[in-house]
Amino acid sequence: MDKTVLLLSVFSCLSPALEALDNGLALTPTMGWLHWERFMCNIDCDNDPDNCISERLYMQMADVMVKEGWKEAGYEYVCIDDCWPSHQRDAQGRLQADPKRFPGGIKKLADYVHSKGLKLGIYADVGENTCARYPGSLGYYEIDAQTFADWDVDLLKFDGCFLNWTLLGEGYINMSKALNKTGKSIVYSCEWPLYEWSFHQPNYTAIRETCNHWRNHNDVSDSWDSIKSILEWTASHQDIIVPSAGPGGWNDPDMLVIGNFGLSHDQQESQMALWAIMAAPLFMSNDLRDICPRSKALLQNKHIIKINQDPLGKQGYRTAKMNHFEVWEKPLSNNSLAVAVMNLQDTGGPRKFPIVIVPGWKVCDPKCNITQILPQYKEMGVQTIQSDIVFSVNPTGTTLLTITPIKGNNRHFHKLLWKNASVKRDPINTL
Ligand SMILES: *[C@@H]1O[C@H](CO)[C@@H](O)[C@H](O)[C@H]1NC(C)=O
Ligand SMILES: *[C@@H]1O[C@H](CO)[C@@H](O)[C@H](O)[C@H]1NC(C)=O
Ligand SMILES: *[C@@H]1O[C@H](CO)[C@@H](O)[C@H](O)[C@H]1NC(C)=O
Ligand SMILES: *[C@@H]1O[C@H](CO)[C@@H](O)[C@H](O)[C@H]1NC(C)=O
Ligand SMILES: *[C@@H]1O[C@H](CO)[C@@H](O)[C@H](O)[C@H]1NC(C)=O
Ligand SMILES: *[C@@H]1O[C@H](CO)[C@@H](O)[C@H](O)[C@H]1NC(C)=O
Ligand SMILES: *[C@@H]1O[C@H](CO)[C@@H](O)[C@H](O)[C@H]1NC(C)=O
Repeated sequence: MDKTVLLLSVFSCLSPALEALDNGLALTPTMGWLHWERFMCNIDCDNDPDNCISERLYMQMADVMVKEGWKEAGYEYVCIDDCWPSHQRDAQGRLQADPKRFPGGIKKLADYVHSKGLKLGIYADVGENTCARYPGSLGYYEIDAQTFADWDVDLLKFDGCFLNWTLLGEGYINMSKALNKTGKSIVYSCEWPLYEWSFHQPNYTAIRETCNHWRNHNDVSDSWDSIKSILEWTASHQDIIVPSAGPGGWNDPDMLVIGNFGLSHDQQESQMALWAIMAAPLFMSNDLRDICPRSKALLQNKHIIKINQDPLGKQGYRTAKMNHFEVWEKPLSNNSLAVAVMNLQDTGGPRKFPIVIVPGWKVCDPKCNITQILPQYKEMGVQTIQSDIVFSVNPTGTTLLTITPIKGNNRHFHKLLWKNASVKRDPINTL
């Protein structure tokens, strides 16, 4: 065994990976479409048949996902959120879909989605009611898990409304066991920490053992303020939440709202870049039947998706913050690094950012290969630590790069860089 291998194995003994839920799923962040942010609880199919929560909506999305390259780009799960069920369970105590809006039932919808080579996600709640006051699963975990398995559903988003927080852990764990007991592999998307944070710090070891991804913070809305607040929350809790992410389990900062109404194109690029850096599940909530080509190209950008889906499965950290710039860095396989430089100043024009300020820039000693992914794809080629590169970053926009060291480098830079994520750089006032 050479010295390098020894050092690496000592390091991995010192920081054992937390155990993931053992269902073989979500080895990279889940990708798909989820109705909530865009379509909410619109049940008015008489007056708004194209946008109401009905089987037609998911069938149309599935059709478009195949036809317009979404499936090919990696978006696989077509997911139902709240407001799908009938207000009454059936005579056997099972949930049933609203008969008027889902005349074929969920099994038939799952068959349709599967016939397109896609997967179907459904929604339920750990408590007495769902957030929109449809029947909750409390007291019915095994029946509901079996119902979803019988319907051939592939993912469950399990919300946390209407349950005393002291029972959240028990409820989420019981449902995880009930899903396992069905014998069908179902991605388990939780909101356990989101509902627990207001009372105390959640146990991320237990959460990672129980769920495939978990929401930590408020619902996203179609606004830059919402995106900024999710990023700020994530960065300010990164030492607690980032170590819990990895193949099989992910922190979920909520849906991509790209392609809607509230974000400028620069802001859409920032959301896409930072969701990739955070190794976030990529659930779009938009109308794929009517989306502008620029948003579509951004959501389907294979270089960004590759960063998100990198098999190493490390979530990135915010590594520097100065003069309304933030630098976020995500280790990639093969010792590469993805770097996002976000300009949070929302007045004025583009601002200059010299690459030497990026903490991970030391990987360029002696040489590295830099590729700019956003705002435009540009191979910048071989650089050294002396290279004088200055980016121009638009207000509320992001420059996204990958940096690959060229041999001769310190092969342990990830270890050095990530040993203490809370190290913040001093503000640099020379920009
Ligand atoms: C259920 O859990 C066991 C043990 O953790 C695991 O080996 C098995 O694959 C799981 N089954 C499903 C369907 O998730
Ligand atoms: C939640 O449960 C705890 C422990 O059983 C109890 O003390 C508390 O009153 C409950 N809270 C509410 C709002 O019911
Ligand atoms: C979870 O399951 C245990 C064991 O069956 C049971 O005692 C407990 O009440 C359940 N908790 C909830 C919230 O369903
Ligand atoms: C957190 O959960 C893990 C796994 O379930 C458990 O072993 C550990 O004791 C818990 N930690 C705390 C502080 O409760
Ligand atoms: C890592 O490098 C090897 C050898 O060059 C290559 O085959 C592999 O695809 C790379 N892995 C990733 C995730 O890029
Ligand atoms: C640098 O990266 C680009 C994009 O991945 C690649 O096409 C190019 O061959 C690389 N150059 C070197 C010298 O590794
Ligand atoms: C990490 O860095 C922070 C800030 O400099 C420091 O307070 C903390 O003690 C460091 N932790 C470790 C484990 O070195």
